[in-house]
Amino acid sequence: MRLNKYIASAGVCSRRKADELIANGNVKVNGAVCREMGTQVEEGDAVSVNGKIIEADAAKVYVVVNKPLGYITSMDDDKNRPTVADLVSDIPERLFPVGRLDYNTTGLLIMTNDGDLAYALTHPKHEVSKTYIATVAGVVSNVRLAKLRKGVDIGGFVTSPAKVRVLKQNPRSAVVEISIHEGKNRQVRKMFAAVGNKVQSLERVAIGDIRLGRLLQGHYRKLTRAEIEYLKSL
Ligand code: URA
Repeated sequence: MRLNKYIASAGVCSRRKADELIANGNVKVNGAVCREMGTQVEEGDAVSVNGKIIEADAAKVYVVVNKPLGYITSMDDDKNRPTVADLVSDIPERLFPVGRLDYNTTGLLIMTNDGDLAYALTHPKHEVSKTYIATVAGVVSNVRLAKLRKGVDIGGFVTSPAKVRVLKQNPRSAVVEISIHEGKNRQVRKMFAAVGNKVQSLERVAIGDIRLGRLLQGHYRKLTRAEIEYLKSL
């Protein structure tokens, strides 16, 4: 990677500003001042700016949080309610949520400071599947399942076919797994409402192949390198 790009991707400054730093002799590669902005930085090279070693992409952080009930998916709240930013407050980088979960929805939320990835994952054309476990009132009949699988009208928008299966039918409620690609506001709740089942609780358990697993509510874990590569490949 070119030296100026390396400095910019380390989150130090813009590429143009990096050129200035290099020209002014503020940058060292493996201990020697380097004034050539086109210098190629190889893996294992030590680059310092004003005496401080930097690492390209070191500032990119990717975590999965298990959002509890009653947390707002935003960085701050004017009513001072808890936000998902509180769940990662011990991470020095400012992480923002990728997409959103309702106040009353729990489960998997990706948080990162990688703006490109956040943009790509939430772009409608990428259609990343999101899987939820919904507990709904009443009986989820085969007719209702068929409607959800075909697509339902949720107020001027017809959803694309969902993957749905009933995990458990109780006398007065059902536990259902549902996977959708779109991300309309309160979409899963509206989809079940459209077929006559009120959602009682909703948890997101997966985004694509990234799974919540046993992560406890209110906790986070860093994504593995393989998971990050996977998300970037979507
Ligand atoms: N669908 C909903 O209804 N709520 C969410 O939080 C996510 C998907």
